[in-house]
Amino acid sequence: MRPKLLVARAMFPDLLSRLTPYFDLEINQEDRIFTEDELIERLHGKFGMICTSSAKISSSLLQRLKSINDDLKIISTIAVGYDNFDIASCTENRVMATNSPDVLNETTADFAWALMMATARRVTEAEAFLRDGEWKKWSVDFFLGADIHGSTLGILGMGRIGQAIARRAAGFGMQVIYHNRQRLDPDIELKAHCAEYVDRETLFSASDHLILALPFTPEVRHSIGVAEISRMKRSATLINIARGGIVDEDVLIDALRTGQIAGAGLDVFENEPNFNRAFLDLKNVVLTPHIASASEQTRRAMVSQAINNVIAAVKGEIPPNLINRQALHLGFEQNSRDT
Ligand code: DGY
Repeated sequence: MRPKLLVARAMFPDLLSRLTPYFDLEINQEDRIFTEDELIERLHGKFGMICTSSAKISSSLLQRLKSINDDLKIISTIAVGYDNFDIASCTENRVMATNSPDVLNETTADFAWALMMATARRVTEAEAFLRDGEWKKWSVDFFLGADIHGSTLGILGMGRIGQAIARRAAGFGMQVIYHNRQRLDPDIELKAHCAEYVDRETLFSASDHLILALPFTPEVRHSIGVAEISRMKRSATLINIARGGIVDEDVLIDALRTGQIAGAGLDVFENEPNFNRAFLDLKNVVLTPHIASASEQTRRAMVSQAINNVIAAVKGEIPPNLINRQALHLGFEQNSRDT
């Protein structure tokens, strides 16, 4: 009997067909978001799961699952961010966790720029005005926005996506400043359009456009609040393509309402898809439904990576994008030493 695999969301059938030689598949064709109870029920007896960020793999879920059945060996998410996985608990329960990094860097950086430009130049606000039949005459001070070219781009979180965002600044003659847990090597800074490392306070006060590209961990939850936003220029924009929970959304909404900052471009929200509806009443915010990596090519590449990870696992190899090496089973360690 072949091992069983849960594909927890509907996706590219031609890519999923690569799994059929290895697994008996259960595919969530309806594409419903499973509750914890449903996930446990469906994971019962499964070797692994391919999922997205909508599958919350908490310590309680793993404990409940492992108390009834110990088959689960790998959970493979189609995302670079894996804040939906309790990694410590996965390791404790000997479940390998994998993600799909790198292939989305450039596409996500493109989108960060799209949001920044749309926010700074008020593209969606102006389009809504036109669609609503409000355009009666052209005026000199019509939808005045902020320049991108020649301005200072701030990046919080200078990993691979942050660096890809920075590289694009060359064509716009921008100065790039960044803050990161660790300063980058000078040669990496050089390639990232000579990005200059600054302290966190300076990043908030000096940026004309500030892009958030850091990973989400419990420590950074609501780490952008009153202190940070009040340091920003009134003309500045804040762009979030990371995770919504990094920003205290009530503080941001207030800042947008009172004009404390000029605008925000948000692809991510603390509660998705049930985001804070107060954003809808604001004109100076561009809102998109978590689509930064959504190009056909990139999403297919991410799904392929998730597939590669589970196939490696079932073959007794180390999955290429393994997050928690400590969860490797003895058999896997043995195989990897042998090769
Ligand atoms: C990612 O890859 O982390 C995207 O945000 C999709 O979840």
